[in-house]
Amino acid sequence: MEGPLTAATSEPDERVLEAALRPKNLHDFVGQHRVREQLSLVLEASKIRERTADHVLLSGPPGLGKTTLAMIIAAEMNAPLRISSGPAIQHAGDLAAILSSLSEGEVLFLDEIHRMSRPAEEMLYMAMEDFRVDIVVGKGAGATAIPLELPPFTLVGATTRAGLLPGPLRDRFGFTGHLEFYSVEELELVLRRSAMLMDLRINSAGFTEIASRSRGTPRIANRLLRRVRDWSLVHNVEQIDARLASAALDMYEVDSRGLDRLDRQVLQALCTKFGGGPVGLSTLAIAVGEETETVETVAEPYLVREGLLGRTPRGRIALPEAWSHLGLDMPRNAPGSAPTTNPSIAGQERLELEE
Ligand SMILES: Nc1ncnc2c1ncn2[C@@H]1O[C@H](COP(=O)(O)OP(=O)(O)OP(=O)(O)O)[C@@H](O)[C@H]1O
Ligand SMILES: [Mg+2]
Repeated sequence: MEGPLTAATSEPDERVLEAALRPKNLHDFVGQHRVREQLSLVLEASKIRERTADHVLLSGPPGLGKTTLAMIIAAEMNAPLRISSGPAIQHAGDLAAILSSLSEGEVLFLDEIHRMSRPAEEMLYMAMEDFRVDIVVGKGAGATAIPLELPPFTLVGATTRAGLLPGPLRDRFGFTGHLEFYSVEELELVLRRSAMLMDLRINSAGFTEIASRSRGTPRIANRLLRRVRDWSLVHNVEQIDARLASAALDMYEVDSRGLDRLDRQVLQALCTKFGGGPVGLSTLAIAVGEETETVETVAEPYLVREGLLGRTPRGRIALPEAWSHLGLDMPRNAPGSAPTTNPSIAGQERLELEE
């Protein structure tokens, strides 16, 4: 089963479906112009110099294309790709085993690199810089370090939490690409490409409709596309247009801004039960019958990002866009109204824009 429709993360089963839609070269990789251009320079230059490319760090929220780019880097370099991840490397020995079996020029992709253990991380510093590791043999006073030369390789690290990476590790990457959320236009291009691969007929307005519900995330866009495909198969639709796409996604409870049921319940409770707040997170969670943590980690980040919900020192508030999205009139004294029209709040409370 795939995970929730609007989740940015993926379940193992879904990764098989994703693999079929991954662009295989930089040219087919949509959006992220800066990162793509910079990366292409790094790769071109290394080809000219006939050296392995510098180590690359890719950071950004789930589902924006880090794994895809890592695979593209290996493909563009014509190099084999080895894949592992931080959580899989709990001992320095795990890393030593991988490193010592790399071939020259190989691309090593370490996903979730921020979750590697400390000893492994320290081994990686030396491997990245000097292409050398010390293998420790024995224990305690009798332990000896045997140096081992490594063939030059390119490390591609991916992380959703660049802030958690220790400075020394971050500094050892020659290039860092930070992936940003995609615009609706870019997601339309992602969808066009996927629809072609899936042999689906959709018109422009249909693509726009799906793209605007995809939360700036290609993974979600492709997932919604699969649901629209199912719907059109069952309803025997030849060409999908905006009306059909929106009918399909309404049925799956993904609304015009990409909010799902929980997101809307949170906003609805905030506006109708608490007059727009401020209300404490735990009270809000009880009102929608969810765990506090679920509301905070599943629903809130996107609501905050979309400017629908604000976090203040006194609690959560509904912002003007939340009222209009729900089709409700915002009371004049609601806490989210502009400070000029609401002097009681001006100067006292600043919105915490950062989550
Ligand atoms: N720029 C893009 N162009 C086209 N498709 C994309 C692009 N970025 C991502 N995708 C698609 O979105 C899906 C998810 O991308 P990917 O697995 O690379 O994300 P990720 O950043 O590695 O996510 P996670 O943090 O969960 O590992 C893939 O199926 C891929 O085909
Ligand atoms: Mg990934």
